[in-house]
Amino acid sequence: MKNKKWRVPFVYLTKQFADLDRYLKAIKNVAKKGDFTLGERLNELEKKMARMMKARQAIGVANGTDALLLSLKVLDIKQGDEVITVPNSFIATTAVIALVGARPVFVDVGDDYLIDPDLIEKSITKRTKAIIPVHLAGNPCSMDRIMKIASEYKLSVIEDVAQAVFGKFNGKYLGTFGITGCFSFHPLKILNVWGDGGMIVTSDENLAGQLRLWRNHGLKTRDEVEFFAHNSRLDTIHAAILLEELKTLKKIINRRSKIAGIYDEMLRPLEPDLHIPERNQEEAKISPTFTQYVIQVKKRAKLIGYLTEKGIEVKVHYPIPIHLQKAAQYLGYRKGDFPVCEKQADTILTLPCHQYLTEKDVMYVSRQIADYYSK
Ligand SMILES: Cc1ncc(COP(=O)(O)O)c(C=O)c1O
Repeated sequence: MKNKKWRVPFVYLTKQFADLDRYLKAIKNVAKKGDFTLGERLNELEKKMARMMKARQAIGVANGTDALLLSLKVLDIKQGDEVITVPNSFIATTAVIALVGARPVFVDVGDDYLIDPDLIEKSITKRTKAIIPVHLAGNPCSMDRIMKIASEYKLSVIEDVAQAVFGKFNGKYLGTFGITGCFSFHPLKILNVWGDGGMIVTSDENLAGQLRLWRNHGLKTRDEVEFFAHNSRLDTIHAAILLEELKTLKKIINRRSKIAGIYDEMLRPLEPDLHIPERNQEEAKISPTFTQYVIQVKKRAKLIGYLTEKGIEVKVHYPIPIHLQKAAQYLGYRKGDFPVCEKQADTILTLPCHQYLTEKDVMYVSRQIADYYSK
């Protein structure tokens, strides 16, 4: 190993799809039938996902952003309304609120990177219609407290589960607490396709029927349009890929948890130079998915340079909070408005945590970090 540089990639998609024939066979079967749009395998996937999550309905859409957007549309959230969410998500969570004409209202997060339930009520006004909690990095939000507040103020909850497929809070699947749960199948998610894909899960049959119209031009039949709507269908070939992946998904999530556990053990002694990820702070039973393993570090820029030099690929999710983005200027927020989120934006670091890491890889990453702080 003397001359060979150790490499730890952030993701390993080529390895994930190395058994190409398995996936190509599934796609070929769709192609042979010419069943590309709203096909049989999509139907099968929707039924399977709903059953696995113990929800009534699952609706495949074009991507995770549309899953959120169509959820807002179907609830008739529009100009004049306010929607509460966090400033430390992927930009799409906020963008969809703005895209329907409503106003995004941010609430700061806790040490676990998740919406702080203690701060929600202060942000509710007469115009508030919904809350979008984000299960960031695969860590479950405090759904019991969020649902209680939502029910008291008669607000809808749209869960952003893009990073937490098959995570659980108190034994219940994330995405099944709110009126809808919105999933992304982007290639960097744990359950992923060869392009873009998404899904909405709901147990409201009436809403599900409406969402099926919202994703398909508002078409009630081939020739009758109920209302003007989007073209946002999950392709049948992507459904075929997802059905293959579902066979091993739970194993993958368990493997990621195991890797996170090794990181925890290896990195905990380095406190206070770094902090290992806080799990949800409530006394609930939670099952995170570790879509990301996010630590907080001192001297981040130099550490990134050091790790890169050692062949370790790391990222920052996300370095600029949404309220400080140019796109959000019109909302009038300022630096200092969300101190916890802002502090985290300067100190967070996402380590590789995918299922193809060996124990040796995880030890190697941890040791390099320890070496860096020992200097
Ligand atoms: C938290 C979060 N919300 C929404 C999205 C949007 O999903 P998509 O990229 O499939 O549109 C993503 C994915 O990147 C995400 O991570």
